[in-house]
Amino acid sequence: PKADPAKGKVIVEQVCAACHGVDGNSVASANPTLAGQSQSYLLLQLHNFKDGKRKDPIMMGMVAPLSDQDMANLAAYFSEQKVKPRDATDKTQLALGKEIYRVGVASTKVPACMSCHGPAGKGLPEKYPRLGSQHAAYIVKQLNDYKLGEVRSNTIMADIAKRMSDAEMKAVAEYISGL
Ligand code: HEM
Ligand code: HEM
Repeated sequence: PKADPAKGKVIVEQVCAACHGVDGNSVASANPTLAGQSQSYLLLQLHNFKDGKRKDPIMMGMVAPLSDQDMANLAAYFSEQKVKPRDATDKTQLALGKEIYRVGVASTKVPACMSCHGPAGKGLPEKYPRLGSQHAAYIVKQLNDYKLGEVRSNTIMADIAKRMSDAEMKAVAEYISGL
């Protein structure tokens, strides 16, 4: 059957809202904002947690009881929510972050993030996630997870994260959080 966001909302209110917010805008910086994220990307991540391809103890527990239909309903619900704009909290490295996001780092062959995540951070259909207004701390953790390849793997992002220093990750994450 077709994905039904209203059925997704029932599960969100009972389970997901505690960490991701009832409207998909999370408060704590370890919990990603899901509002406005693409439906296909959200669904892929839920399946990745379920199949153990992406390892997070909390989220693996959350998806265990969910059916494929539940996950489709949840992805539909969150993708329809509006993301709340956020201001970067640490503004000291925004110039470096902007340079990385929009141009990349020529010397270490880090490509411009914009080419896949969009000039305004909204992502590109279907598989390139929205990054704009995401928590900086969550973004830094994901970049490190891709770099180490133990709990999250993606060929493209692993190759990019391996070329980035801690300072570059922090700078680009702060810039992205304010997009
Ligand atoms: C990550 C959905 C419940 C904590 C995620 C992601 C999705 C998701 C799609 C990946 C986001 C991305 O890649 O951008 C859901 C759904 C839930 C739920 C549908 C309810 C059924 C919860 C709860 C908690 C939680 C209750 C806290 C107790 C987290 C954390 C991450 C995450 C910490 C990031 C994991 C990491 O660092 O990779 N969730 N979530 N979630 N969620 Fe949930
Ligand atoms: C995922 C950051 C460049 C393709 C992600 C995520 C982050 C990120 C934080 C995880 C999002 C989430 O969990 O919600 C960056 C940064 C970049 C960059 C900082 C520049 C330094 C690129 C480029 C491409 C790309 C150039 C395409 C060639 C993807 C794809 C995913 C992704 C396909 C989803 C992977 C998955 O399913 O786990 N990126 N990105 N990114 N990015 Fe990038």
